[in-house]
Amino acid sequence: MSTLKLTIDGREVEVAPGTTILDAARDELGIEIPHYCYHRDIGTDGNCRVCLVEVNGNTNKLAISCQLPCGNGMNVETNSDAVVKARKGVMEFLLINHPLDCTICDQAGECPLQEYSYDYGSGDSRFDEAKRHKVKKTPFSDDIMYDGERCILCQRCTRFFDVLRGSRPIGVENMGGQTTITLGPNGPIDDAYSMNIVDICPVGALTSRDFRFKQRVWFMDFTETVCPGCARGCNMTAGAYQGKLLRFVPERNADVNKSWMCDEGRQSVKDYNFQDRPDRIHGCKVRGQSVMLSGVAEGLDELLGDGSGVAVLASTRETCEDLFALATFCEAKGVTQLWHGASTWQGDDFLRCDDATPNTAGATQLGYAPVPAEAPKLRGLIVAGDVEVPAALLAELDWLVVQSVIESSLTVDAATVVLPCRTPLEKRGTYVNVDGISQQVRPALDPGDKIPESWALWGELLIKLEDWPDVASVRADMQAWLASRGAAVGSAS
Ligand code: SF4
Ligand code: SF4
Ligand code: FES
Repeated sequence: MSTLKLTIDGREVEVAPGTTILDAARDELGIEIPHYCYHRDIGTDGNCRVCLVEVNGNTNKLAISCQLPCGNGMNVETNSDAVVKARKGVMEFLLINHPLDCTICDQAGECPLQEYSYDYGSGDSRFDEAKRHKVKKTPFSDDIMYDGERCILCQRCTRFFDVLRGSRPIGVENMGGQTTITLGPNGPIDDAYSMNIVDICPVGALTSRDFRFKQRVWFMDFTETVCPGCARGCNMTAGAYQGKLLRFVPERNADVNKSWMCDEGRQSVKDYNFQDRPDRIHGCKVRGQSVMLSGVAEGLDELLGDGSGVAVLASTRETCEDLFALATFCEAKGVTQLWHGASTWQGDDFLRCDDATPNTAGATQLGYAPVPAEAPKLRGLIVAGDVEVPAALLAELDWLVVQSVIESSLTVDAATVVLPCRTPLEKRGTYVNVDGISQQVRPALDPGDKIPESWALWGELLIKLEDWPDVASVRADMQAWLASRGAAVGSAS
């Protein structure tokens, strides 16, 4: 395919035909041209005019860079005097009726309107008349609140549904200064991905009813990790305040989830705050007695014997490094039956997978198989991580080892040995998603040393911690082990 050559801010770039100036500037040169209505995963509407650029010295007719395709030999200026003057004009109009809400607005601190106002705003207003008022609180659903005064009518929200979801639960109503976004005739938005419009709204007009007024973003800690809700492994940022998770928002990954995540995955943030729960397992127990992890090893060896008649049932919420360490432990102890547990929900054709766990592909690559339909009679069972245990496996066991995040009837009534476990939001390691893409999981919370990473727990029971001082060393051993079998954990992302 032939390419086009053009100059943007004095630097030459070469792009494929059809590339817009805004995309070329950002992707080839790292120049971020201001934009509101354009979103890279929805497209553009051309309504906000803040992305104006000067083309071939024509200062009388500036062009919107989100729609204008690059042309051979073009000379583009993204920050000339004419562009800056026009952009200031656009900002002045946008701010005429915008309320002075920044001090109480949830978007403050991550608001493009605020950012561009600092860059292009005048600092004071020439507008002496009273600002126009609109409805400040319109529930669009149980999850989303709309503020008509803050809305800049970019229509990203309506186009999200129109372009990507094939529906129109919200639309534009009225004309001129009274224009607003409104619910359609079918009532509240009912869509499994609806809360993405909160993220893409470039101002604080759409807010999450769960997160609004909870915390200022500049006081929070953010961690880029992977949603553990299903096998898609949507990239996300987990936001926490003082050790408590408050918010999940999607992080763009063109190969996995683009800019989106499902509402259920996003709202699962509440499911990972275990720090104050009285049923959190903080240490090891053998036959009901608390012991140090080092004290578990001897008793466990006795139970395992030569490993015959023993199986492992591992959660596919455990990372590849966790599962590799467990498999190494099993190999050393003669345990050959490695199974992973299934957990399913209703998938769809947008992102959600039927497999409601994030690492079945990784477990499979590491030699774990589904529980056989007719499980053999077992002497002992090791349940690693939170996984549903088929009742048939529990019948006639001599002993049971359970590694779990919280207490359950299994840990209280049935387990011979209980081991602690971290949640996916407390782990560092690798998940392999449904498409075989390997992704890094990072801890957003630290549960403390009493709850070690699973790879460290199995490593200590193997007396192998000298070889595995950190997760990278486990990963290196895992990659070597896989390479010796002609495989690798996923492809990098
Ligand atoms: S609610 Fe937000 S995304 Fe929707 S039109 Fe208004 S500013 Fe744009
Ligand atoms: S689609 Fe799956 S991985 Fe993505 S946000 Fe939803 S539950 Fe999480
Ligand atoms: S981003 Fe180009 S017109 Fe809105």
